[in-house]
Amino acid sequence: MQGLTDKVVIITGASEGIGRALAKAMAPLGCKLVLTARNQARLDSLVQELAQMSHHTPLVISADISSPDSCQHIVDSAISHFGYLDIVVNNAGMTMWSRFDELEDLTILAKLMTVNYLGPAYLTHSALPHLKASQGQVVVVSSVAGLTGVPTRSGYSASKHAVMGFFDSLRIELADDNVAVTVICPDFVVSEIHKRALDGQGTPLGRSPMQESKIISAEQCAQMMLPAIAQRQRMMITSIRGRLGRWLRLLAPKLIDNIAKKAIAAGH
Ligand SMILES: NC(=O)c1ccc[n+]([C@@H]2O[C@H](COP(=O)([O-])OP(=O)(O)OC[C@H]3O[C@@H](n4cnc5c(N)ncnc54)[C@H](OP(=O)(O)O)[C@@H]3O)[C@@H](O)[C@H]2O)c1
Repeated sequence: MQGLTDKVVIITGASEGIGRALAKAMAPLGCKLVLTARNQARLDSLVQELAQMSHHTPLVISADISSPDSCQHIVDSAISHFGYLDIVVNNAGMTMWSRFDELEDLTILAKLMTVNYLGPAYLTHSALPHLKASQGQVVVVSSVAGLTGVPTRSGYSASKHAVMGFFDSLRIELADDNVAVTVICPDFVVSEIHKRALDGQGTPLGRSPMQESKIISAEQCAQMMLPAIAQRQRMMITSIRGRLGRWLRLLAPKLIDNIAKKAIAAGH
């Protein structure tokens, strides 16, 4: 993939799922990776896997993106280690799995907004001076749930709609600085997120309700993200139904509601 060699790239949520797969896809391209998440042991195991794939040793930072100070620490550490910064991939996220009328723990709504929307906003704010200097790029992993409503995911969908509005606005502000903003909208992907989804009481489900054989892998998702990032695309949606649904929704919104309802019921 042309253009990514020697780029300094921060990836949040690198310990699992899509972020981990993206790190494994970017390392062989010669990227200088800054890998962050909360679970230090999982990050360390990733670094061991990457050792065979790249001559650059990644920088690992255990941090919670819910805090602006932690986000500043991630950027400061990246700069003091590598000296510059080209790309920030805001990937870390979490989800829920409950109808709103069955939601007992309302703090879930704030958690989703903090991790999925405020975290990327904090990290991007800390990174901006360095991204302007490098004419770099902000990447954010949103979701097809950021483009349309999804039952049992009301708070998640709201947080991803916030992400869309925020980064679409930022793209306009940064155009004159030649900093690109790329929004990735995955459809269902096999990862840890479904097992970790919070139920109405705020407890992780502990098992995935998805039909995992019928949805794409995190590795496939990462491979689709690479050209979108390298070409500094505006938006990339991983599924055909996601791409078509965006336009069909304008003409037949009820049809799209039904497709979303069936997808959740079927788990794919
Ligand atoms: N999988 C899907 O079907 C799907 C579909 C559409 C969009 N997405 C989006 O894709 C992104 C990646 O999700 P995934 O599916 O790969 O999920 P995942 O396997 O659960 O990975 C989520 C990552 O985020 C990190 N994370 C969670 N909370 C964090 C926090 N407060 N601070 C720092 N890191 C945190 C986790 O690491 P630690 O626990 O170590 O902190 C983990 O590395 C998310 O934004 C998600 O919304 C996923």
